[in-house]
Amino acid sequence: MEHLLAPSILAADFANLERDIQLINASEADWFHLDVMDGVFVPNISFGMPVIKSIATHATKPLDVHLMIVDPDRYLSTFANLGADVLTVHAEACTHLHRTLAQIRSLGMKAGVALNPHTPVSTLTDVLGDLDLVCLMSVNPGFGGQKFIERTYEKTTVLRSMLTAAGSNAHIEIDGGVGPGNWKALVEAGADVLVAGSSTFNAADPHAAILEMKGQ
Ligand code: DX5
Ligand code: ZN
Repeated sequence: MEHLLAPSILAADFANLERDIQLINASEADWFHLDVMDGVFVPNISFGMPVIKSIATHATKPLDVHLMIVDPDRYLSTFANLGADVLTVHAEACTHLHRTLAQIRSLGMKAGVALNPHTPVSTLTDVLGDLDLVCLMSVNPGFGGQKFIERTYEKTTVLRSMLTAAGSNAHIEIDGGVGPGNWKALVEAGADVLVAGSSTFNAADPHAAILEMKGQ
């Protein structure tokens, strides 16, 4: 499968959000990646429901919502109603991950699990059949523009083998520090969704950056 590119709106210009949404709509990018931070699970606060509601009214591509919040069970139906297509929770934030994934799917969304850099992929062994996406954090979550953690290549390779052995078609998404210098090696390691915040919106020519990271 050709890999997907998901620009992260965290790096957009919030004073020109509609312009940046239209930029992605008109581009070769595939999904909108929306980073929700609560200031508890991660040391930063980003944006929440009213902003996502506004984005949803303009976006013409799927919304990939990455929850960096404690106890995400409280808000699963809220994000479904806001129009999330993929809803990703952190394994580290879920006491009953199996139940949470089932609830996300029952609400009609694709169920994703994000793993912090220190969390081994083996933690997902018993829920591989219950998820549609695994987001490997290649930075410690909380901020855009951080340096890519090289260990992610090995995690990607191991996870791809685990998914293949389990007969799963789940996506492997890589989030943090992805750009023109590493996207290709990540796809070769088995990634199929690349999140790209700064490398998209801080590029001199975002359209050209998107095309480059799509391999076109
Ligand atoms: C980090 C977020 C990322 C972030 C990526 O906590 O989950 O999605 O926006 O930003 P870049 O691509 O700039 O590393
Ligand atoms: Zn993210």
